[in-house]
Amino acid sequence: MAGTEIFGKPGRRRRVGSKAENRKRREMLTTRAAVITEPGAPWELIDLALDPPGPGELLVEFVASGLCQSDESMRKGTLGGDVRYPIVGGHEGAGIVREVGVGVQGIAVGDHIVCSFRPSCGRCDFCAAGKSYVCELSRRTMKGALPSGEFRFHRDGVRYGASAMLGTFSQFAVISQSSCLVVEKDIPLQTLAVLGCAVPTGWGAAVNTAQVQPGDVVVVIGAGGVGMNACQGAQIAGASQVIVIDPVQAKIEAATAFGATSGYTSLAEASDVILSTRRGGADAIILTAAVPSIPAEAVAMLVPGGNLTIAALGDPKTFRLDVPIAPMALRNLSIRGSAIGSSNFRDTIPRLISLYRDGKLKLDELVTKHYTLDEIGPGFDDLAAGRNLRGVVLH
Ligand SMILES: NC(=O)c1ccc[n+]([C@@H]2O[C@H](COP(=O)([O-])OP(=O)(O)OC[C@H]3O[C@@H](n4cnc5c(N)ncnc54)[C@H](O)[C@@H]3O)[C@@H](O)[C@H]2O)c1
Ligand SMILES: [Zn+2]
Ligand SMILES: [Zn+2]
Repeated sequence: MAGTEIFGKPGRRRRVGSKAENRKRREMLTTRAAVITEPGAPWELIDLALDPPGPGELLVEFVASGLCQSDESMRKGTLGGDVRYPIVGGHEGAGIVREVGVGVQGIAVGDHIVCSFRPSCGRCDFCAAGKSYVCELSRRTMKGALPSGEFRFHRDGVRYGASAMLGTFSQFAVISQSSCLVVEKDIPLQTLAVLGCAVPTGWGAAVNTAQVQPGDVVVVIGAGGVGMNACQGAQIAGASQVIVIDPVQAKIEAATAFGATSGYTSLAEASDVILSTRRGGADAIILTAAVPSIPAEAVAMLVPGGNLTIAALGDPKTFRLDVPIAPMALRNLSIRGSAIGSSNFRDTIPRLISLYRDGKLKLDELVTKHYTLDEIGPGFDDLAAGRNLRGVVLH
């Protein structure tokens, strides 16, 4: 609770006293949060007022939040998309429900939840078609408002958005029931937090988007939080080879524990190995590093019918595709975008928890270091310096 003032115990604040008293109490709910005031500004730690949950919303006390590259790109202004600032960072988190708004179904005070950075309304065309990873609500996540259109964080009359409608770099947040899933209480929330982004994004990029088949040759470019999970996904899907590419030697070595069968510091260095596999190339190449030159290089190493799956995000001004078109048609290749690993989180998160319980999916090993909330800047510095697979903030 360090640095956070809250009036009474949040879980006990409901419907006690007159409306005026309740309003006064709620006005006093403040939370410490790491925010981005404008693109390029450093992470700033401030106290924000937090409005109570509206219909379909809940107050969550975050316990742990992963440090994903996407939030640092949002800070730098290179994420792509129409981000509205100021915004509370953090979109990979797990916590405890402290209060529920009217109309919330299947979620109660005290429940443990994992959040998904892509909400699922359950009703739109995309959700109905089993593609909740592109739920119509996700078109609005860059704005940082909740699905209701409301901003619950504010200070001095300024409304603060929340990264991916979550804001997991705040100890307390109001989120939508569309953005979370109740999980069992026996696994620590600090273990489960990475299920909010890195794990489904990487695992799903291999299993769902690239559709890795038993015996496939898979190349994973970038062995960070997302890439390690692409390795795990490819291994679980039965790939015969999982070749990892990362300039940081220590990450290549770490990737072997996540299913990589070999590793190289550049795609060029790996090309002979990739081209001399049984069918003369890779069935799938999964891109988790925003390096503009790689897509063209990668497409040339695919077997006919192979796919380049893109999970990496990057500055739209520089991270663009420049790929010869004719081979795409003649060799029946495809380039696939992969949002949260094309994962439907209500199905995927329980599935991943089962794999973890069975010892088939690594979660704890993904976390290199824990940080306090005021160490978010140094935490992202460690990520940039190649020291972390995943850093996790413990609130
Ligand atoms: N599509 C999605 O839904 C989604 C979700 C989460 C993150 N992302 C994006 O995925 C990317 C990876 O995120 P992360 O949190 O794993 O970041 P990360 O920093 O942990 O991993 C990136 C890795 O790429 C490596 N790398 C750098 N240059 C390279 C090169 N030339 N060749 C190969 N590897 C190189 C780095 O050493 C690092 O290990 C980011 O662009 C992030 O914004 C996308
Ligand atoms: Zn992320
Ligand atoms: Zn939907």
